[in-house]
Amino acid sequence: MSLSIEITPDPAHACAAMLLGAASGGGHVVLTGGSTPATAYGELARAVGEVGVDLSDTTLWFGDERCVAAEDDRSNYKLARDSLLANLADENQPRVMRMRGELGPHEGARAYETTLQEEGTPEFDLLLLGLGPDGHCASLFPGQDTLKERSRLVLGVPEAGLAPFVPRISLSLATLCSAPSVVFLVSGSAKADAVAAAFGADSRPSEQVPSSLVAHGASGEVTVLLDPEAAAKL
Ligand code: 6PG
Repeated sequence: MSLSIEITPDPAHACAAMLLGAASGGGHVVLTGGSTPATAYGELARAVGEVGVDLSDTTLWFGDERCVAAEDDRSNYKLARDSLLANLADENQPRVMRMRGELGPHEGARAYETTLQEEGTPEFDLLLLGLGPDGHCASLFPGQDTLKERSRLVLGVPEAGLAPFVPRISLSLATLCSAPSVVFLVSGSAKADAVAAAFGADSRPSEQVPSSLVAHGASGEVTVLLDPEAAAKL
């Protein structure tokens, strides 16, 4: 396992370049939700068009989803559709494995786990995560029992620990840690404390900071892309 921290004024640009590399040539890429990645997804769409990358053999997965309709503004799928997919040519659309949040947390998790297994549980070429101010990633929240699950690939999360307070579907900690390349994309001063707790020199794996369990427990490379504001307390 290796942990590298990259501080840059434009982490979205760095993230888009990493996503482009992983998505080229038919990779399996896991997208994150929230608001931070929208800029990176838009830059990825532009880069795909400019470079002429073929995404038709690429498969996009999701790290987590809110249990809302796909058209709901809180949907992580909608974020990716509006910022990335809508800006790709029709003939260059990747396969998109949407988490069906409308099924609810437990049925939705079982359905996604079945889809992963039916696809042969592919190795993810890049797994993108954000970081909540409470240290959560995907929909794995501090102190929740989901962090103790060791066998499931995908979990239902009945209660979110941070807004939006809707049930969630989330890849499990074990699944997050199994990816050869995990990338955290984090920006803004509101994340500075969580960044220090998860990735700082004195950070230790803790169930109170779920992202620290990935940073210190992942089997592959962990890259943390930060702007100076998010890195302020490192
Ligand atoms: C979600 C995300 C979540 C997100 C962080 C950061 O469904 O909410 O997957 O893990 O990455 O909460 O969100 P922001 O980018 O909005 O700060």
